[in-house]
Amino acid sequence: MTSPANGRTASDRMVTIRIRRQDAPDKPGTQRWEEFSVPHRPQMNIISCLQYIAANPQTTAGKETTTPVWDSGCLEEVCGACTMVINGKARQACSALVDRVGEPGQPITLEPMGKFPLIRDLFVDRSRLFNDLKRVKAWVPIDGTYDLGKGPAVSQKSQETAYPLSRCMSCGCCLEACPQYTPSNHFVGAAVISQARLFNEHPTGKALKEERLEALMGEGGVGDCGKAGNCAEVCPKEIPLLESIAAVQRQATVYSLKKFFMK
Ligand code: SF4
Ligand code: SF4
Ligand code: FES
Repeated sequence: MTSPANGRTASDRMVTIRIRRQDAPDKPGTQRWEEFSVPHRPQMNIISCLQYIAANPQTTAGKETTTPVWDSGCLEEVCGACTMVINGKARQACSALVDRVGEPGQPITLEPMGKFPLIRDLFVDRSRLFNDLKRVKAWVPIDGTYDLGKGPAVSQKSQETAYPLSRCMSCGCCLEACPQYTPSNHFVGAAVISQARLFNEHPTGKALKEERLEALMGEGGVGDCGKAGNCAEVCPKEIPLLESIAAVQRQATVYSLKKFFMK
């Protein structure tokens, strides 16, 4: 038998996808699980499963439903937008291959990240993370309206330290895993601390080092980290987050001593 929707035979392997859904932030009563059956294809990822479901929004029980909502951008694990909780672990749907995340014959569960406000279904609002990056001025302060000439030379050693930190895509996996980062507090979390380190150690970025440290010495700053290291374990870019936290704590200590003696 051939399905008109996909042209595959009924004997082809199917993948079961269970999605935790909610229609709107203020509609917790609509929270539910819906299960879908998706034809298996070699090398398929979770995004391709969602695309199939979007084109065929019918549950395994035969009920017509709405198209599940999710976020995505680059489709190559660079933008972080498609991050969701897949089989209990926060990761990117675009790089999560069905054959690697799931056990054959077992459903794959998709849930929204829990630390950010829900928009709908698998789509969350990561604004807090971007606002915290602004809070610590995570950028190199240059005025780009005229030619500034060559920037300062950066040693090979500094480049080797900076490059892994620069791979952060603000996905939020480290925040999802962090026991100190909760919707009701102001902790900035490991990603923001690590970005502050990246720019504090940059020859031009360090012009704002003291402002960054001021922000990180206040409420929700580096002092709120419990140092358990969950963040480093889950980072998909393997960023040395504990090293960054220790480095920023050292910078904050030196800065507060300097402030004390300059009084
Ligand atoms: S530090 Fe890693 S886990 Fe955290 S936001 Fe950046 S890439 Fe994602
Ligand atoms: S070390 Fe622990 S408390 Fe600190 S940012 Fe990482 S997960 Fe959170
Ligand atoms: S879509 Fe950009 S990381 Fe997945």
